[in-house]
Amino acid sequence: MTAADTVSNPPRTKTRVAVLISGSGTNMVSLIKAGQRAEAAYEVGLVVSNIQDAAGLEKARALGVEAIALPHRDFGKDREAHERAVQKLLAEAQIEVVALAGYMRILTPYLVREWEGRMINIHPSLLPLYPGLDTHARAIAAGDAEAGCTIHIVTEGMDEGPVLGQARVPVLPDDSAEVLAERVKGVEHTLYPEVLDRFCRQLAG
Ligand code: GRF
Repeated sequence: MTAADTVSNPPRTKTRVAVLISGSGTNMVSLIKAGQRAEAAYEVGLVVSNIQDAAGLEKARALGVEAIALPHRDFGKDREAHERAVQKLLAEAQIEVVALAGYMRILTPYLVREWEGRMINIHPSLLPLYPGLDTHARAIAAGDAEAGCTIHIVTEGMDEGPVLGQARVPVLPDDSAEVLAERVKGVEHTLYPEVLDRFCRQLAG
């Protein structure tokens, strides 16, 4: 490499991503691992959970990522106060993009506006079908032939923002919601890192 190469192709710094979780964090693990590859456009620099003992916290720490529990219960009914405390952690960690991965809180306009265009979410259905909870049971009850997951930009309407990517799986005749959820998770773990990487590349221009 010559000095001229260094000027025209400066080493790209990775986009710093925070992952917000409430539970097991299997998507979070796939995001962290993909971000640790040399060629990744992002790295997960922080994990925050609103649940004190979320299993994902220890998984993040085992992968070398700082992981902080900030229980919403400590803030009573004041959802925005909790979000302001989350925001302080994100700012201190110099986070540039937020990925929600099983974060079971409805956000207030405060946090959504702070991260407008820089916060994404994974939802376990083929949006616009089945926003909200119990997506797999609803897909089975409707007799759908296909289910899947959607990555979208977070906006103030729940599960409504612009879609960045989807992955599909078949619904099989004897599926329970749990069996279907596991099949969908298999594709979530591939799709989410791919879409986050592309999203960060586009943001970085
Ligand atoms: C996933 O099904 C995701 O689509 C939804 O919450 C679940 C999180 O699972 N938003 P995990 O904690 O990543 O295992």
